[in-house]
Amino acid sequence: MMKTIAIINGPNLDVLEKRDSSLYGGMSFDIIKEKLTKEFNDLDIIFFQSNVEGEICSFINSKSDEIDGLIINPGAFTHSSIALRDCLNLLKVPVIEVHLSNISSRENFRKINLTTSIAKGYISGFKEYSYHAACYLLNKILN
Ligand code: DQA
Repeated sequence: MMKTIAIINGPNLDVLEKRDSSLYGGMSFDIIKEKLTKEFNDLDIIFFQSNVEGEICSFINSKSDEIDGLIINPGAFTHSSIALRDCLNLLKVPVIEVHLSNISSRENFRKINLTTSIAKGYISGFKEYSYHAACYLLNKILN
């Protein structure tokens, strides 16, 4: 049976193409989305992005019984959001955290990671391919 997963993006990932391309790759998320949908056509993927912390929590809570797994790039909320951590912690399905940039080689404040440790694992530093790797791994875990 086809598995349903959610790919969630946090703040400022809606304007990815405007951000530092040496860190983030320069591709818009719409293009990444198109590529993921094509490559992983055996997955039913629900995409969601918000710049608002509470909206992300509400979305996750509303989908918790419908999804088989979740991929999240919490953006800057990675480093600040206890609410998002608590929300992800409630999920019974596997969670993979992704980052386009390598957060461990950046500023010190990006080394405080509130959400990362409750994920099954994380992928960081492969620009748009971080998402591809996460989909590949989640698909493996779920099948
Ligand atoms: C990011 C890394 C975060 O530190 C940053 O705030 C982002 C993007 C990444 O994908 O590399 O917005 O999550």
